[in-house]
Order: sequence, then structure tokens, then C-alpha cells
Amino acid sequence: MTLADPYRDYCRLRDEANLLRQLRDAEPLAHGQVRRGGRDFVNLASNDYLGLSRHPALIQAAQAYAEAFGSGSTASRLVTGNHPAYAAIEERIATGKGKEAALLLASGYQTNLTVIAALADKAVVKRPVTILADRLVHHSILQGAVLSGARLQRFGHNDLYHLETLLQARRGEFVLIASESVFGMDGDRADLAALGELATRYGAMLYIDEAHATGVLGKDGFGLVADCPLAVDVAMGTFGKALGSFGSYIACSKLLRDYLVQRCGGLIYSTALPPPVLGSIAAALELLPNLVSDRAGLLELAEALRTALRGQGWDCGASTTQIIPVLVGAEAAVLELAARLEAEGFLVAAIRPPTVPAGTARLRLSLSAAHRPDDIARFITVMARLAVQFASAA
Ligand SMILES: Cc1ncc(COP(=O)(O)O)c(C=O)c1O
Repeated sequence: MTLADPYRDYCRLRDEANLLRQLRDAEPLAHGQVRRGGRDFVNLASNDYLGLSRHPALIQAAQAYAEAFGSGSTASRLVTGNHPAYAAIEERIATGKGKEAALLLASGYQTNLTVIAALADKAVVKRPVTILADRLVHHSILQGAVLSGARLQRFGHNDLYHLETLLQARRGEFVLIASESVFGMDGDRADLAALGELATRYGAMLYIDEAHATGVLGKDGFGLVADCPLAVDVAMGTFGKALGSFGSYIACSKLLRDYLVQRCGGLIYSTALPPPVLGSIAAALELLPNLVSDRAGLLELAEALRTALRGQGWDCGASTTQIIPVLVGAEAAVLELAARLEAEGFLVAAIRPPTVPAGTARLRLSLSAAHRPDDIARFITVMARLAVQFASAA
């Protein structure tokens, strides 16, 4: 056996199970479209929910910051990477979220990993630690739990009764409850007020990932935590999805922010966001409160699409947002459906285990305010035809 054999075997087995992941080129275009292999597609796979990645204000700000401050930040924020723009951006996030303070970090993945590990550090909280995570939370939250060394338990998706049972069993411990506010693969929402009530009653910390709510939902588009800031201890979000740029934030108390500056590896040991990215983030935050009709239009488009798909017999789960799953079940079937859609000019993500639970392979449709209504109308027509073909094949 050579050193390479186990990796080759792994990839072969993934391929045989229809689970092989592949990196394919995709050149972004305007109007929620993308070019691949010389062909243009309607892109129903991106998280550019407001179309901000192509907004002139973001592009100009990135260019201006690059001209003025260079292309890289050159060091971690604690060394020489703490650009003066951070203060205003963090102040804006904190105010928008209704929290005392905010802290920007590099990617959302890094944030979940290292903030959760720092918050759930047994050496610091001086009690046994348990992380209770919704069954459908993002991989990065689970990796944060692993890194913390805490006990990790999952509660049924949005199942508050199950969560309470687990909380009862962990009295006396330090407990961190982790959930998303809008679930990235299902497009449904958590009940933040109810989670907050449970957390308060059991003295637990509530950590909410707003990656898919930021920009789209809540007061002025600042996410669902903005509507109930007291319910949540730590709100995390990203700038790489609806805010059209890159990077991540948490909003929390001043004390937690001060603590994380001492203890959070992702902040301390990683190069800060580059100036052009800070420029785009600042521009996106300035635009955000004014995008009322974009947000409303996006959610209306999503509602119309969901209604049409359900009418054709597709299962869209419990989605109430711009993310719409089309639950198919089997891996081979979802790949076949995505391939048929690609042939018709639509790029759609076929999401398979382990990203989603076994038996729930699905298309993940994500809508954008940049999409042209005509393109979505054509998508509905194509899905109607495929519904008939798939029903007769089943
Ligand atoms: C729910 C959720 N949290 C965190 C992340 C990670 O964020 P980032 O892409 O900024 O690393 C993602 C990204 O897909 C996500 O969907």
C-alpha cells in the first residue's frame, strides 16, 4: 500500500456513492447569472441574496480602500492589522443588532470555530461544559464544539422540548446553546425568543448564527437577533452572503468582546481582513437600512416560487425565507435533477450527505433580489415538466 492509496480509495468510494464533490469554474455575471464552460446560467446556488456583490457602491469602496491602504492588512489585528475602519463598522453592527459591542473576524467558519472554543473553555468557566446544538447547525459550529473539548449534544431540529430535557440533565454545568436563526440548508427559522427564554431559565449562554439572516431579515436587515437582542448572548454573522463581500462578525456584550480579544485564536493568530474588504463591508452596511424594497421583493419572490413548487408536488420543507430546499431524498435522484436543470440553463446546488442528514438530499434554491422575474418564471415552468417526469419515474 502506498501513502496515496487511502486517499484514492476514499475518493473512489465517494464517487461510487454519488457523493463526490467537484470544484467547477463559475464566472459571476449580472442579474443573478453565472457563466460556465462558455454558457450562461441562471444562478440559483449563490448566497448573494441582495445582489450586493456587484453593487457599484461596494466595488467603488473596495477600489478606493485598495488605492488608499493597499491590498493586504499585513498582520493580525493585534499586531498592525487593526485598520481604523474597524471601529465604525463594529459600532454599526453593534447598534444594528441591539448589542453593546461587536468584533470582526475573518471567515464565518473561523469565527464559529474559534469563538465557540473560547467561550466554552473549561479552564476559564471552571465548570464542566456542555454544548447543546440544534441537529441542523453548520459544520463550523460543530467543529467549534470539538475544538473546545466540551461535551457536545444535539437536540432535534427546532425541538424546544428536547432541548429543555437536555438542559434539565445539565444543571450546574456551563451550557452553551447553539442554533442558526435561519437554517442554511432548509430556509426555516428558529424561535429566538423561546430559545432565549429557555437559556435564561436554565442559566445557559445562547449563541446564534445569523449567516443567512444577515442582510435579509430583522430590523433594517440586521438579522433576526435585531428584533430580540436581549434573548441572545452572542450573535454571529457573515459579510460573504447577503452583504456581498467577505468576513464575519459577532455582536455581544463589551465584556465578552474584551474576553475574546484575549482568548479567541481566530482573532489573535490570523491576518486581519484586507482593506478592500473593509471598504465593501462599510459600504454594504451604509446601504443596508435603505434596501427595504429589495428585501420585501426577495421574500415575495421566494413565497411565489415556494407556492408554485408545492403546487407541482415538490416538497419544500418548512422554508419561509429566500432559501428553498426541494427535498428529493436519494443522492442519485438529486444529481439527475440538478443535471436536467443545468441542461435547461439553471445552476442549482445538489446538496447531499454529510452536509444534510442521510435520506434528505435536496436541491437548495437560493433566491436573490438580482434575479430577473422572467428567469424565475421560466424555472417554474421547467420544474413543472420535471415534476411530471420524476413522478412517473418514481
Ligand atoms: C450557517 C453558516 N455559518 C457559517 C458559515 C461560514 O461562513 P463563511 O462562509 O464566512 O466562512 C456558513 C457558510 O456557508 C454558514 O452557512
